[in-house]
Order: sequence, then structure tokens, then C-alpha cells
Amino acid sequence: MSSTSNHLPVEFELENGQMNKTHGEFLVLVEQLSSASDEAFALTFGNFVTHTKKHFAEENEWMFFSKYPEYEDHAAEHSKVLEALMSMQSQVEAGQLTNAKDWINNHASEWFEHHVLEMNSAFCNHLYGLSSEAAALKKTRDTDGTNESKLEEV
Ligand SMILES: [Fe+2]
Repeated sequence: MSSTSNHLPVEFELENGQMNKTHGEFLVLVEQLSSASDEAFALTFGNFVTHTKKHFAEENEWMFFSKYPEYEDHAAEHSKVLEALMSMQSQVEAGQLTNAKDWINNHASEWFEHHVLEMNSAFCNHLYGLSSEAAALKKTRDTDGTNESKLEEV
């Protein structure tokens, strides 16, 4: 598969196009890992962790600059998951795939569904209730959908 964008099932679509694009990429990477050979899994799990780091950092930035009241709880959830993934990455690099494969195959989809429909959905409700920030983010999405937040310029 050459593109990892636009693979987000409609039930997970939120107001923010960049967030949807990143979430679609997350699902594609999970799908690729879930069907990978052990060798391919070991070679590509790090890419998934790197993508997730960027994904969470971007959301944290949006939450921070939009003064989201639930910022700390949501960012703490990101940190918890990222710490677990980084631990798994260390294991994978040492040739131990069991925990990482278990998370990808048995927990990633459930975590994603809950996180998007509960936490990210609540954040988007906050974000698009704020007129100036909403306008800035919608402008970013509408122009190319690939840039990072422009909230700090508002
Ligand atoms: Fe999130």
C-alpha cells in the first residue's frame, strides 16, 4: 500500500482533517504490523512508535494552545501508552516480539476506538467551540491538510 492516508473508517472521523489523516495512518500501520512476518514486524515496529510519538505530540500541542481543560488527563494517557510502546520497542530490538505483537493484535484496535471516540472526540468538541482556534485549524485543514497547527499564530 503506497499511501497511509484516507483509510479512516467513517465512524472514527472527527472535525479535524489532520487528526483524521494521522488516525488513518495509525490504523494502516497497525494493520500492516498485524499481518507482518516476525522479521518484518521487527523491522517496522519502530516506525509505528515514531509515528505515534509525533501523533501524540501534535495532539498535545493543540490541546495546550487551545487551553483544553482536560489537557493533563489526555496528555497523561498519551504518555502512558507511549511509555509502554517504547518499552515494547526495546524488547523488539532485543528480539522479543511477544508483548509488542500481543498489543498490536489484541489491544491496539480497542485502545484506538476508545481513545478516538471518547478522548479525541471530547477534545474536538472543545476545539470547535472556540471560534478563532477553530478557524485557524480549519484553515490549515482546508489548505493542504498536512501542516501542523497554527494555533500559536492566532
Ligand atoms: Fe489523543
